[in-house]
Amino acid sequence: MSPAEPTRRQAIRLGVVGLAGIAVGGVGLSRTCAPWSAPGPPAAARGGAELVEPEILRSADGLLRVDLVAARQEIEVAGRQAQVLTYNATLPGPTWRVRAGDRIEVRLANDLDGPTNLHTHGLLVSPEGNGDNPFVSVAPGEAFDYRFDLPTDHPGGVYWYHPHHHGTVADQVSGGLYGTIVVEPDDDALPVDRERTLVVSDISLTPDGRLARPSPAEVMMGREGTSILVNGQLLPTISAATGERERWRVVNACTSRYLRLAIPGQRVELLGVDSGHEPLPRSVEDVLLAPGNRADLLVTMTTAGSDELLTLGHDRAGGMMTMMGAADLSGPATLATLAVREGSGWAGPAQVPSRVVDPDLRDRAVDAVREISFTMSMQAMMGGAAGAMGFDGKSFDADRTDQRVEAGAVESWTIRNPTPLDHPFHLHVRPMQVVETDGRPVAVPTWRDVVDVPAQGEVRVLVDFSRHPGRSVYHCHVLDHEDAGMMATVEAR
Ligand code: C2O
Ligand code: CU
Repeated sequence: MSPAEPTRRQAIRLGVVGLAGIAVGGVGLSRTCAPWSAPGPPAAARGGAELVEPEILRSADGLLRVDLVAARQEIEVAGRQAQVLTYNATLPGPTWRVRAGDRIEVRLANDLDGPTNLHTHGLLVSPEGNGDNPFVSVAPGEAFDYRFDLPTDHPGGVYWYHPHHHGTVADQVSGGLYGTIVVEPDDDALPVDRERTLVVSDISLTPDGRLARPSPAEVMMGREGTSILVNGQLLPTISAATGERERWRVVNACTSRYLRLAIPGQRVELLGVDSGHEPLPRSVEDVLLAPGNRADLLVTMTTAGSDELLTLGHDRAGGMMTMMGAADLSGPATLATLAVREGSGWAGPAQVPSRVVDPDLRDRAVDAVREISFTMSMQAMMGGAAGAMGFDGKSFDADRTDQRVEAGAVESWTIRNPTPLDHPFHLHVRPMQVVETDGRPVAVPTWRDVVDVPAQGEVRVLVDFSRHPGRSVYHCHVLDHEDAGMMATVEAR
């Protein structure tokens, strides 16, 4: 189960490429540099170093100013020197810690060799002008000044930032461009021994430490990196003592990989996912995070010894995809090691101060009903034309407005997935309240900004358009799919 076991996984992976390559007449076979024939990774690449927290930038007096330089850099990743994409020469980029009502001013300088921009994933901010505007393009050598004004009632939680320039999002995110945003509410300060940010990402590096190009077959499925990183580290160690309680902010920054997080030997409680809050910390065996989702976790060290943070694996490609040899996608792996020494012992249940109560749109009248379907043509499945992925039979066109919504409306959206792959549905700037899956009401409606829609399944969500009028997008958060056209526009006026 450890990522330090490359032979089996990569052999299977190569099998995927080989089979899909046959289906499209040989495309995909270019990636046959037989990774296992390269010399093994240096010792440090096998992990074990203590988990390092990304740099923290905190707002003061209601303002956070950030200078962000996106550039290709040689840095240490996964315990070795590698040429990757970075914000401020670090992977992940710095963590922004802000409060509801704050202003965030970001100067993004583009030192990459192609255009980029910035998306503040999950924040309830304006999608227009210098806000969370996915239509902005910052050319190489240029800079752009972003300004994000958080509403005073912005929900606390963990969010993140990454590039969103259509066509290169998967390349830029998988290359290393991402960072965490924590919005701290006043009334949710749980007493913990420490807080950690865990940015989980995956990356594929060539034996000489460059970013590997994905094959057309990998792009079709959504690429998964061969190394899974936590804060840029391979298999880091998290040290703690029994009786200690930690709060973990976990970001799934993987381009396409689903994570099913578990720590078998310790007590894990869920505080929330995305901007949604659990009414009380809820004990969980595992937490599923689709690409783009985040989890707010309470981890209590109950047992001394060595333990592991795992992803248990998730089949995002059932049925027909398995026939194509893709069953290894989002498979089980170890993400980090926990070293728990004897401490003062079992801490007892968390003393939880008043919890945030999330709004419930089910009490509101629905102003409009929409149905949206993922589209993936047979041609797209075979790794062919990029134009064959989209929504409702159409692939992304920035100049076309797909959904026109009245500002102030509360809408019901049914999102259908008739394709053989799971797709995580992300709507910018407005969180969604999930009320039904496969036509059945959910027991506890939760708030998400990325909602997984399983293959052949459907999900119904409620969306509140009462703030931030403007034009924005929704898309699949398997970022290769987004780049291939699985994105559409929505305008609220
Ligand atoms: Cu995290 Cu539109 O993306
Ligand atoms: Cu998708």
